[in-house]
Amino acid sequence: MLKNRSLIGPDDFTVAETDELLGLAGRIVREPGAFSGACAGKLLASLFYEPSTRTKFSFDAAMLRLGGQTIGFSDPLTSSAAKGETIADSARTISKYVDLIVVRHPKEGAAKLISRYADCPVINAGDGGHHHPTQTLTDLLTIRHYKKRFEGLSIGVCGDLKFGRTIHSLVTSFSRYENVRFLFISPEELAMPGYIREDLAARKIPYAETDSLEASIPELDVLYMSRVQRERFISEEEYLRLKDFFILTKDKMALGKPDMIVMHPLPRINEIAAEVDDDPRAVYFEQVRFGMYVRMALIMKLLGLE
Ligand code: CP
Repeated sequence: MLKNRSLIGPDDFTVAETDELLGLAGRIVREPGAFSGACAGKLLASLFYEPSTRTKFSFDAAMLRLGGQTIGFSDPLTSSAAKGETIADSARTISKYVDLIVVRHPKEGAAKLISRYADCPVINAGDGGHHHPTQTLTDLLTIRHYKKRFEGLSIGVCGDLKFGRTIHSLVTSFSRYENVRFLFISPEELAMPGYIREDLAARKIPYAETDSLEASIPELDVLYMSRVQRERFISEEEYLRLKDFFILTKDKMALGKPDMIVMHPLPRINEIAAEVDDDPRAVYFEQVRFGMYVRMALIMKLLGLE
């Protein structure tokens, strides 16, 4: 169903397609060795115009664990971008060599543009402050693993909701499930963009906004923390003023339900104290493991190998 498609936005796949993909990812989690030769002879290019640890490494690890191979760059200055080549021309060229392109770029819309010019499927690995749909697949697989369902959950997203692309994608995708409710926890300066709030309102998806983490925690099934995105601020002074607005501590965790889970796309800066890491409800380092498995499933689906 997903063969030769690109994944640019969080709702490019229908709910049924997403659920099918998560089903395959679940099978890979249970028996990863059974898929070790699935992508033999296939080649993935990863074009990272912005830094990454999890997304870059997990895509590389996913392709290698499927028996495929990867090429690419983490520093665009080692490519002809340094000579002024447009991303459209780079896409036209690189897609002649490979079966799949993964791209991260600081500009909103860059992945969509690349997908228009590439001769192969393109995966958006983060475009500026816009979207990060494969992080959302990671998040959905994690939530389904721990909560066994999406329907009826209350999810609190906390931190930089203005620039946090993982949050924009998660809310857009998660809002398609029945009876979900959102709590947007941020300082006013980092509030959720209007276009997302307006979309939720139009679809009558319940959400509330607050700047109090303590007041929000007791009602949550999922607490999704995020860092303040320093690289998107125009003013360093403004970043320094807001960066430690929320810090999740053991004392605040004590206010949460016993079966609440705490997630974070990472990297973490100060917003979760290290003392929280040992709480069994803190699942963010398991979340990164699910990221590799869900990307294995995504690669197989887009290449038509499942
Ligand atoms: N979650 C995430 O996108 O992490 P990286 O920036 O390390 O890829």
